[in-house]
Amino acid sequence: MNVLLLGSGGRENAIAWKIAQSNLLSQLYIMPGNAGTKHFGINININYNDFNLVKEFVINHNITMVISGPEEPLVNGICDFFKSDDELKNVIFIGPSKQGAKLEGSKDFAKQFMQKYNIPTAKYQTFTKRTIRDGIEFLHSLNPPYVLKADGLASGKGVLILKNINQAVDSLIEMLNGKFGNASDKVVIEEFLSGIELSVFALTDGKNYVILPEAKDYKRIGEGDTGLNTGGMGAVSPVSFATKDFMERVEKRIIIPTINGIINENIDYTGFVFFGLISVNGEPYVIEYNVRMGDPETEVVIPRLQTDIIELFVAAGNKQLNTQKLSFNQKHCTTIMMVSKGYPEDYEKGKEILNIDKTSDSLIFHAGTTEKDDILITNGGRVLAISSFGDSKEEALAKSYKNAEIIDFEGKYYRKDIGFDL
Ligand code: AMP
Ligand code: GLY
Repeated sequence: MNVLLLGSGGRENAIAWKIAQSNLLSQLYIMPGNAGTKHFGINININYNDFNLVKEFVINHNITMVISGPEEPLVNGICDFFKSDDELKNVIFIGPSKQGAKLEGSKDFAKQFMQKYNIPTAKYQTFTKRTIRDGIEFLHSLNPPYVLKADGLASGKGVLILKNINQAVDSLIEMLNGKFGNASDKVVIEEFLSGIELSVFALTDGKNYVILPEAKDYKRIGEGDTGLNTGGMGAVSPVSFATKDFMERVEKRIIIPTINGIINENIDYTGFVFFGLISVNGEPYVIEYNVRMGDPETEVVIPRLQTDIIELFVAAGNKQLNTQKLSFNQKHCTTIMMVSKGYPEDYEKGKEILNIDKTSDSLIFHAGTTEKDDILITNGGRVLAISSFGDSKEEALAKSYKNAEIIDFEGKYYRKDIGFDL
């Protein structure tokens, strides 16, 4: 079958790598893709937020399966666009409807959902400009630090954690006055949870689900989890504290109630659910939902998946995920994200990337790369994800670091302590 994958990051490179291994694949297209994805399919330079252009492409190329890597087109309603179009409605679409995407696209919606279905999460209240006084009062009723979240998508920058009450009040006022545009018309204020985070992934057909290997990502730019938040600087899978007992509690208290909530709310949802969790004294709580795979978690989770991914997506599309028994590589997989100097703030693009051909023992997934006159150059903050397997996470990390040292581009940076807290 012909498959279209939307997106252009390391996540999409890892998914493209996996799709390309399927016997069920005829041709893979990646929209828009990057310099890494073109080894697994054909990159298509079309803006996936222009749904009519996507439609034309899908029809002209006999595409029968579409997978959305990022959340943005889902939040914009691309799944609904497919389902309501006579010529597209039989295409298998991996990614939820607009209503389902609200689990990521609206923090307030997600919190209400969790509260309704008794899913463990931090206590919260939501405020608007009209209720700003109540918001300030609510802040005063909490202990520091204070967690303020823009309701809508804010490119991963919409969560502020503030140590003192004056900063928290000022930030609330700024947010409700448009600090993140419309995304902060509503602000969720929640209790701070102290613990260790991990990412758990399920694929659901809206009725059944399968659970993928868990992962831990490292979001801060600096070693020891310091400095600004990034999209993610590295990841490991499995996660040592995600024991069988812990994962059983995650499934019982979080995954099953979430899927039941999706069914009960009549949400059309075929796709990944990303549970951003925190373990507080060994008990799992939901920090956030995402309606896609994580990046860079995908670069360690997908390599561990041994099951044919297209077969899995076909089962999901046919609402038959209950027929799937997944198998995973039991080894440890780690990834190191090589980033541009300055990231996550301003950075330069267009630096030549050298020596990928001199690497060995790792999967090199491209995150932000392109080609100019046949020369591979940087094209984003996060440039390459270096994924490796090992019998231990240390063995896997040693391979990733060996190759991160070999690969070169001006201003390259990576954290040297991925996995330090496990
Ligand atoms: P989110 O976008 O909701 O995942 O938030 C970004 C990051 O902020 C999370 O990965 C956590 O590290 C942190 N965070 C969010 N909510 C809380 C909370 N209630 N308590 C502690 N940390 C939080
Ligand atoms: N790595 C976290 C995310 O993808 O949101």
